[in-house]
Amino acid sequence: MSRRILVTSALPYVSGSIHLGTLLEEIQTDIWVRFQRLRGHQVHYVCGDDAHGTATMLLAEERGVDPEALIEEFRQEHVRDFQGFHVAHDNYYTTHCEENRQLSESIFEALRKQELIFTREVEQLFDPERKLFLADRFVKGDCPRCGSADQYGDNCDNCGATYDATDLNNPRSTLSGATPELAKSEHYFFDLPVYAEMLDEWTASGAVQPEVRNKLREWLEAGLKAWDISRDAPYFGFVIPGTQGKYFYVWMDAPIGYMASFKNLAERRDDLDFDDFWRADSDTELHHFIGKDIVNFHALFWPAVLDGAGYRKPTRIHTHGFVTVNGTKMSKSKGTFIKASTYLAHLDPEYLRYYYATKLNGTVDDLDINFDDFVQRVNSDLVGKIVNIASRCAGFISKQFDGRLSSKLHDPGLQQQFIERKEEIAELFEIGNTGRAVREITALADLANQYIAHHAPWAMIKEEGKRDEVQAVCSQGINLFRLLAIYLKPILPKMAEAAENFLNVEPLTWEDLDGMLVDHEIEAFKPLFTRMDKKDADALVASSVEAEPESESASDEAAGPEADHISIDDFAKVELRVARIESAEPVEGADKLLRLTLDVGDHQRQVLAGIKSAYEAAHLPGRLCVVVANLAPRKMRFGTSQGMVLAAGPGDSDIFLLSPDAGAKPGMIVR
Ligand code: 2FM
Ligand code: ZN
Repeated sequence: MSRRILVTSALPYVSGSIHLGTLLEEIQTDIWVRFQRLRGHQVHYVCGDDAHGTATMLLAEERGVDPEALIEEFRQEHVRDFQGFHVAHDNYYTTHCEENRQLSESIFEALRKQELIFTREVEQLFDPERKLFLADRFVKGDCPRCGSADQYGDNCDNCGATYDATDLNNPRSTLSGATPELAKSEHYFFDLPVYAEMLDEWTASGAVQPEVRNKLREWLEAGLKAWDISRDAPYFGFVIPGTQGKYFYVWMDAPIGYMASFKNLAERRDDLDFDDFWRADSDTELHHFIGKDIVNFHALFWPAVLDGAGYRKPTRIHTHGFVTVNGTKMSKSKGTFIKASTYLAHLDPEYLRYYYATKLNGTVDDLDINFDDFVQRVNSDLVGKIVNIASRCAGFISKQFDGRLSSKLHDPGLQQQFIERKEEIAELFEIGNTGRAVREITALADLANQYIAHHAPWAMIKEEGKRDEVQAVCSQGINLFRLLAIYLKPILPKMAEAAENFLNVEPLTWEDLDGMLVDHEIEAFKPLFTRMDKKDADALVASSVEAEPESESASDEAAGPEADHISIDDFAKVELRVARIESAEPVEGADKLLRLTLDVGDHQRQVLAGIKSAYEAAHLPGRLCVVVANLAPRKMRFGTSQGMVLAAGPGDSDIFLLSPDAGAKPGMIVR
């Protein structure tokens, strides 16, 4: 039965650039949407920019333009970026629109009628020069715990403490430099605790992944607090009806923006009805794709607001982890904070779609991009194993048989083996485990390659009387490729389109898995996909290197600072000492290890060091080195290592022990 599904990705902040992190979510969503469509379901995919908040107001002021002009400029840039990656939203709108204003106001009124809204006086830091209340991100001062200077109003980069902005010592406004004052103001609150039971049931109903459910249970057990949904003027957003100078907090109207984007779409489409998808008893599905940092907004506040206002709740929240590059947070100074537009200037968008698909597994685990692995997966698996099937077979069919495929399948059993995996692969797409889906598809490609290698049409064509069989084998190969192209179509829509042109067929659907191409004319083969060149990836990183800004995010209240560094306190935890190597000997049975006895001043200790490929044991005694003295002893197969000696270099004969200058004494602390 055909499902009717409304899908969203989180709305990017208006003034930020689309980067590898945003793309993970949009590509993940787009793959899911394309998969559902391929299966014949009715899917509407909406998104848009998250336009409100202090940050937009300040940026417009700084540039001397109206916020509306700024919003439209960024919206167009974002649309362009997403289209570049073949992310096919049905509508990419903005939260700053009439539909959202009306919906936000009516939802607020409905909540008020249900007595779910109340006011309370709140004391906050106020910038006396700029005359505005300061969100946490706009206050800096000394950490109340460790005293470290220049810390934001919500948490300390140095010691990790979290606190209220009012707890900072020597606070100052980042906007004017003025010392903030405490000022009182009346805020509007949503009575979230009323929904504790409903949320407990809803989050246990399969609406979120198990690990997200566990996190939510912790929050629910700790007790919910009423949610502050208002901000004082000056602010950029919607005025709360019946108030003066009180605005909806950006996070109140942002998710309502999903409804607004859909409403705007539905108004332009005769076949779509807004209420059909949003009324409390709707039989449609609503799926939100989000990052793990905004689970509270989507899995606590949002379902409660929807319920309170008489709307349906989401069917499922699909939460993903963060993108890291080479195991660390994306960083502008390392060139790994890569913007969509920069990427597109160097690499094919489908490389990234494929790579992300291979790494997504339906959990909230972070996803690491490693450029060597990236190149390897695209070139060896996608080009080498999958696309290659078509190119190996197509030449014979065009040159020897005028592009005509044989009239029956050569190996129906093998064809059937490919088709039989369809339910399993579909289930993997459904739950977002595209990584395993790709592994299954690649395993099928291996079978196809074995089949072709076994029959070796290039040898067979030289044998007398084997022409028909060559045609049959190559036709079978092309049929197998066709099945793989269907499976991969949600991930690689352009490659699939090129395959459809080559196969000379209408756009392929999931149902076509059961069909076959016999006695059919195909087009001459043109390469469907080119290999990835590591040099292009290197150039991409090189052209992404920038100075680190103060903060990555255009958000005024929700984002954390870039934390690409360890603090001085973290560094101080490592105790480095000068040591003298008293003796060194190879470790029996170990290829790389030397057993070193070190004099560290007041005692001796044994360290197993992986330096045998670069040093003769006999040359080491008497030499000074640096040891990590407070490393917990590590039990290894060949004994316990009490610390670690520092060395540089990639390995083998290129290992260089770090040695202090002559005069340093065993036991001296290294700083
Ligand atoms: O975290 C963010 O980037 C927000 N702009 C996401 C908003 S999602 C939705 F609620 F609008
Ligand atoms: Zn601190």
